[in-house]
Amino acid sequence: MIALVAMLGNYAFAQNEAPKSAKSCMECHGTYGEKSAKNVSIIINQLTPNEIKMRLIVLQRDSYEALFGPWGGESRKVMRKNAKELSDAEIVEVANYFGKK
Ligand code: HEC
Repeated sequence: MIALVAMLGNYAFAQNEAPKSAKSCMECHGTYGEKSAKNVSIIINQLTPNEIKMRLIVLQRDSYEALFGPWGGESRKVMRKNAKELSDAEIVEVANYFGKK
């Protein structure tokens, strides 16, 4: 019983603690980053915060296509646009929120 209360406590805590920048991600990646976005993405809560930061920074770069080619097609374009809208401070927030604890 105590464990259950503690778990529910954590659940409420996580929802309240989600930074504003992470809210827009939840529609595709799930509240805790536990879903595969559009059934194509990796499960982002299995990455460490640093891995999430690195992937977002790579997606932001205009030289992305030159370096990787047209990798991932349309779904990757969607995520590149999302990444470009994030500031460095927001990248840190979302990485800490969704990343492996
Ligand atoms: C409209 C849906 C959508 C939203 C909103 C969205 N994503 Fe994604 N995301 C995707 C899809 C689709 C992919 C997979 C792209 C691919 O691999 O082709 C993806 C991939 C990723 C990846 C993995 C990239 C890689 O290198 O494989 C990360 C990290 C990520 N998203 C983080 C976020 C964060 C953080 C937010 C909020 C700022 C966010 N996403 C918002 C759809 C979304």
